[in-house]
Amino acid sequence: MKILIIGATGTIGKAVAERLSEKHEIVRAGHRDGDFQVDLGSKASIEALFSAVGTIDAVICTAGAANFAPFSDLDDAAFDLALTNKLMGQINLVRIGRDHVSDSGSFTLTAGILSRDPMPGSVVISMANGALESFARAAALELDRDLRVNTVSPVFVKETMEMMGMDPTPGLSAADTAKAYVAAVEGDYNGVTLDAPDYV
Ligand SMILES: NC(=O)c1ccc[n+]([C@@H]2O[C@H](COP(=O)([O-])OP(=O)(O)OC[C@H]3O[C@@H](n4cnc5c(N)ncnc54)[C@H](OP(=O)(O)O)[C@@H]3O)[C@@H](O)[C@H]2O)c1
Repeated sequence: MKILIIGATGTIGKAVAERLSEKHEIVRAGHRDGDFQVDLGSKASIEALFSAVGTIDAVICTAGAANFAPFSDLDDAAFDLALTNKLMGQINLVRIGRDHVSDSGSFTLTAGILSRDPMPGSVVISMANGALESFARAAALELDRDLRVNTVSPVFVKETMEMMGMDPTPGLSAADTAKAYVAAVEGDYNGVTLDAPDYV
């Protein structure tokens, strides 16, 4: 398969690209890095990416920005970022990308455990994650040409916890997190949320 990974230069995306590259051709996209650059917050940028990359068999997104901050500190810009980048950016990958993906192709988006297991400070992230899961569940009913769409729900990644100066013990490594993305692309799931710890 030829697989486009948006966010391929990030912590999770790098591990997903490495694992999938054993069996597939990988096209790596990032914001500033990678083979191609894209801004998830811009439909025009997403359209340009798909035009430049050509037909692919699968799209994975391991990007999507949203702020971790107390509810009382969240201003309009914080809600806008989560809605336009993490949520609509990934939804637009499906809306625009469906014309560039081959029959039986797939989309795998990134949500996160904070949708169902929130914590103080996670309001906009939880909001976007929950909406992404619902989007995939509903859009899966209507995609034609046997296209599939799923979300992966990572838990805290060990490497991220280390970067943040936290104890990484309860986290899941990026390499183990990547296994859920492989299952989503190589399996026949449609409209489901794959919880990363279930695929280790
Ligand atoms: N890490 C965790 O513990 C964890 C847990 C649960 C959920 N998640 C979710 O998983 C996703 C990836 O997390 P991560 O920790 O791997 O992130 P990361 O290490 O910060 O990497 C982010 C990736 O997204 C790209 N990117 C940044 N802004 C972008 C934009 N506007 N348009 C397109 N691409 C953009 C970056 O490209 P450049 O390198 O070129 O800047 C990079 O490839 C996020 O949605 C996050 O919420 C992460």
